Amino acid sequence: MTGAVNTVRVGPLSKDDAGEVLTVQRAAYVTEAQRYAAPGIPPLRETLEQVRADIVRPGVIALGAWLGPRLVGSVRGRIGGPATAAPAAGGSRYSARGTSAQGSPGAGSTGAGSPGAGSPGAGSLGAGALEVARFAVAPDVQGRGVGRALLAALHAAAPPSVRTMWLVTGARSDDNRRLYAAAGYVVVGSVVDDAGVELVRMERPAGTPDMAVVRGARGAPIGPAATPE
Ligand SMILES: CC(C)(COP(=O)(O)OP(=O)(O)OC[C@H]1O[C@@H](n2cnc3c(N)ncnc32)[C@H](O)[C@@H]1OP(=O)(O)O)[C@@H](O)C(=O)NCCC(=O)NCCS
Repeated sequence: MTGAVNTVRVGPLSKDDAGEVLTVQRAAYVTEAQRYAAPGIPPLRETLEQVRADIVRPGVIALGAWLGPRLVGSVRGRIGGPATAAPAAGGSRYSARGTSAQGSPGAGSTGAGSPGAGSPGAGSLGAGALEVARFAVAPDVQGRGVGRALLAALHAAAPPSVRTMWLVTGARSDDNRRLYAAAGYVVVGSVVDDAGVELVRMERPAGTPDMAVVRGARGAPIGPAATPE
């Protein structure tokens, strides 16, 4: 890579980025789909129109990461009311909105848990919660710090009303769990979804000290990352 593409820029997505977001998201999530033999996971079912709508939806913080002109990663933070942060009433409502949390293998998977604090999809956090969703980095640049930069930027962009960040991820997705643990997320519950896949729900109190924004992981370091405007 040249010098220009060794600097990652993180900033807000616009709806014009939706096509590239979908491309990166699909490429990234295939690995998760294969891991769980679940080709219909929500990030792979999402349509271009749904991506476009989510990027501009009120209450959604949509961030991208660019290396030079190329979009190489994205993440969406969804500030909850019950409709986004409280899918405890059942998977159908949750998946019907197209808002199943990132990494959740299987349709409506986060809604399969029993309601109540500590279970994935529990609706206990309300409007003070931000769901981390659709977190994806292009396969050829994974392990180089782009994901960390995106996650740290999302944490920094959360408004003061957000007290808790949360997500679900596959229980066997060890790399993901390590990344989230390093960013301050702790496992608060687990559930087997309606596709038979075990998920964990992880939460992070707002204000938790963040990991280094960019740390070269398995490949050449990338940085520094810009904070979102
Ligand atoms: C998860 C993901 C967004 C992380 O982005 P990334 O740019 O690869 O992550 P970074 O380089 O910033 O951080 C590396 C850390 O992320 C974790 N990680 C997760 N997936 C990884 C991958 N494919 N390659 C390398 N590290 C990965 C590791 O814990 C690693 O830490 P380590 O250095 O201690 O091993 C990205 O790997 C991805 O798109 N994966 C597929 C889709 C997915 O699973 N999304 C999240 C669903 S919950």
